[in-house]
Amino acid sequence: MDDIFRKIDEHAQKYRVSHWHGTFRDYLPMVLENPKLAQLAHARIYEMVRSYGVDLDDQANERFHFFARELFGIDEALAKVVEYLKAAAMGSEVGKRILMLYGPPSSGKSQLVILLKRGLEEFTHTEDGAVYAIADCPQHENPLHLIPHPLRQDLLDDYGLYIEGELCPMCALNLRDKYDQDIYRVPVQRIFFSEKDRTGIGTFVPSDPKSQDISELVGSIDLATVGEFGAESDPRAYRFDGELNIANRGMIEFIEMLKADERFLYILLTLTQEKNIKTGRFSLIYADEFVIAHTNEAEFKEFLADKKSEALQDRMIMVQMPYNLKASAEVKIYEKLLKRASLGPMHLAPHALEVAAMFAVLSRLEEPKLAGLTRVKKMRLYDGQEVEGFRQKDIKLIKAQTEREGMDGISPRFVINRISSSLIRPQMTCINPIDVLRAIKEGFDTYSAFTREERETFDHLIADVRREYDEVARNDVQKAFFVSFEQEALTLLDNYLDHVEAYLDDKKLVDPLTEEERAPDEKLMRSIEDKVKVPDSGKDAFRNEVFRKVAMAQRRGERFDYTTHEKLKEAIEKQLFEERRDTIKLTVSTRNPDPDQLRKINEVVDTLVRKEGYCAECANELLKYVSSLLAREK
Ligand SMILES: Nc1ncnc2c1ncn2[C@@H]1O[C@H](COP(=O)(O)OP(=O)(O)OP(=O)(O)O)[C@@H](O)[C@H]1O
Ligand SMILES: [Mg+2]
Ligand SMILES: [Zn+2]
Ligand SMILES: [Zn+2]
Repeated sequence: MDDIFRKIDEHAQKYRVSHWHGTFRDYLPMVLENPKLAQLAHARIYEMVRSYGVDLDDQANERFHFFARELFGIDEALAKVVEYLKAAAMGSEVGKRILMLYGPPSSGKSQLVILLKRGLEEFTHTEDGAVYAIADCPQHENPLHLIPHPLRQDLLDDYGLYIEGELCPMCALNLRDKYDQDIYRVPVQRIFFSEKDRTGIGTFVPSDPKSQDISELVGSIDLATVGEFGAESDPRAYRFDGELNIANRGMIEFIEMLKADERFLYILLTLTQEKNIKTGRFSLIYADEFVIAHTNEAEFKEFLADKKSEALQDRMIMVQMPYNLKASAEVKIYEKLLKRASLGPMHLAPHALEVAAMFAVLSRLEEPKLAGLTRVKKMRLYDGQEVEGFRQKDIKLIKAQTEREGMDGISPRFVINRISSSLIRPQMTCINPIDVLRAIKEGFDTYSAFTREERETFDHLIADVRREYDEVARNDVQKAFFVSFEQEALTLLDNYLDHVEAYLDDKKLVDPLTEEERAPDEKLMRSIEDKVKVPDSGKDAFRNEVFRKVAMAQRRGERFDYTTHEKLKEAIEKQLFEERRDTIKLTVSTRNPDPDQLRKINEVVDTLVRKEGYCAECANELLKYVSSLLAREK
């Protein structure tokens, strides 16, 4: 408990320290010493994203930790967003464009923007992300705008401080009337971005295009005070409280941008192009902000086809946000969303989310064009697994043959809604993979947005997933039949490797007990290799490859266990299962188990619960399911 009190104290202390007030006289030395304080909006956001750390993946693409907490499997789109920020941060023309995200529903567009907003808010609380502003400016403007033009070149030459932009009308008036043109006296304070407090972060949501007022973006004349100050052009009679005003130095999100009236879009155009807001009776007001917009694909296409919008199109950087195409990342998305939904006492059986994810990804994939490549294989390949006949490096070619992969199919939200709907069934205490597939399938019929053709395809895909799941289910049960599956698998592996080594070196094996010499057991090796369809003509290549991997693991000081080599793992498992096949089948499928079989079944259920995350209910369901599978086998 003390812990939370200490944390609250620290928090309050930090707050006091960081709330800095002073004058421009105090601020100037600070910014000369630390030019980062004068960073423009895009640069600050780019720094923020980088500040969380960057990794390189196998293909040497940058992977930003910042997104990794909330967004899964869409690294390519994210990399494009960061690329934009980077270019803009370096002052290229790119920063003068709106970043436009488009993609299918629930592809994470809003989530990405939320992340950036929250990240930026937090960043302004850190040293590296600190922002200072003129204290009595409604647009919390950059204090360096106080520096008169003739002196700006000196600041650039001597201190590397680049200054662009003018004082806003309010600050110009204050400088004259309140501070007697003495820039040193102008108050400066550290500010913290907060969407809630309307500082540095704005959001614009289009409503009815006819009645929506432009003042939502650029502020408005304050009718109550116009009388007091005599003229509408007096800044004191104006409220600089539009979303563009408050977003100065930070970012503004434009939701469903293409639903907005043209008047709004043209204001945006000037803002991004010239960094100016046209407000009321004033000349243009300088503003520095990152504009990020999003839209759905239908409106986006209409927009592209519209000749009138060409000027605007030129002013945008479009980033496609397709659905995630990696099944394992999809599982993470569901886990994240379900954590929020809170399952209560409901148990989610192993593989329940996995089957949903497989289905969702399959629904998003285009039919492969390469001979021998099925959708299921493609799904596995995209997820980084080995599949027969193709390699990871083929992905490039496979992707080049797609048109709009990831832009159609089932959304994460659909899946979550279906899973939630199966939650509300009475007496249900556990959801297993078959329940999930059933709930998804039922969803096609109640959800009218799918065409007949789509539904048919989906039905086929459900059947594909079901077949994949059959393998997984069988595997879980079979494994649970062994007292220590890992141990037995390792023993078999060691045995296999001994024989392979002797075979490759053309040597004999020595029996450790009798010291008798034996030739390597070809029958044993072939029996294992046969399980993963290694042909007789390919056995040398396979054995050599296995041994290269063993040597590689040794060099790295890693342990080569039976899971290191995907194919060998499968072979070993199948071999072990085959040896016990009859016992397994007999025990699982019998209608009237004898006491021994009953004890074994209880043991298996127990193992599934202890080791594999099943509850008693789904473990028993699994046994029933697998027994029906085995019964169908020849
Ligand atoms: N790749 C992903 N990684 C993590 N979460 C995701 C991903 N894609 C979607 N989601 C989650 O799905 C939900 C819906 O996404 P979001 O609201 O961001 O979609 P959107 O693209 O804005 O959709 P819309 O066009 O309907 O507004 C969110 O909770 C989001 O976190
Ligand atoms: Mg959205
Ligand atoms: Zn100002
Ligand atoms: Zn369960």
